[in-house]
Amino acid sequence: MKIAIYPGTFDPITNGHIDILKKATKIFDEVILAVASETGKDTIFSLDEREEICKVVTSSIKGIKIMKFDGLVVEFAKKMGAVTMIRGLRAISDFEYELSQALMNKKLYEKIETIFFVPDNKYLYLSSTMVRQVIKLGGSIKDLIPDCVEEALIKKMKYKKI
Ligand code: COA
Repeated sequence: MKIAIYPGTFDPITNGHIDILKKATKIFDEVILAVASETGKDTIFSLDEREEICKVVTSSIKGIKIMKFDGLVVEFAKKMGAVTMIRGLRAISDFEYELSQALMNKKLYEKIETIFFVPDNKYLYLSSTMVRQVIKLGGSIKDLIPDCVEEALIKKMKYKKI
């Protein structure tokens, strides 16, 4: 069985991430969307909230699992029996960062290979930071994030008084 993991912060998950996830399910028997605890970023949603939101918005996609993890991503991959890591590559500016991550992961776990997927055009400029900023400033980006993600963000920002 070909298992791949698709790790990320997913703070929050966007239609761009979902697009990559769907592409990956066409190639792998099982794709594990792995929500990271250690990301080096201050997140707006807690780990459990990010995991729960990912579960809700991907519930209709077959061949996937949503799991959270802490520690090194390669250790999680090992535990899950995955030797392939999936990442989205949106622009040349992503490349250097992605290359260094892929090489470090390979150094840590020789069997791991990273495969890059290119998102659809309409998601090329999308990022979770941009989504948070637009929502904070009252903009609407309905076709870039699922409705319930927009609602969760608005609620969270009110609660946190952001
Ligand atoms: N559509 C929309 N946005 C996308 C995207 C897509 N297809 N692909 C990436 N992005 C955005 C993300 O939203 C995120 O935006 P942000 O920076 O504004 O939040 C950015 O691109 C990159 O994010 P993401 O895919 O979440 O990856 P990340 O770089 O935040 O996550 C981990 C990196 C979690 C994989 C990495 O930190 C990790 O592996 N952590 C575990 C600890 C570890 O093993 N560290 C060593 C790794 S070498």
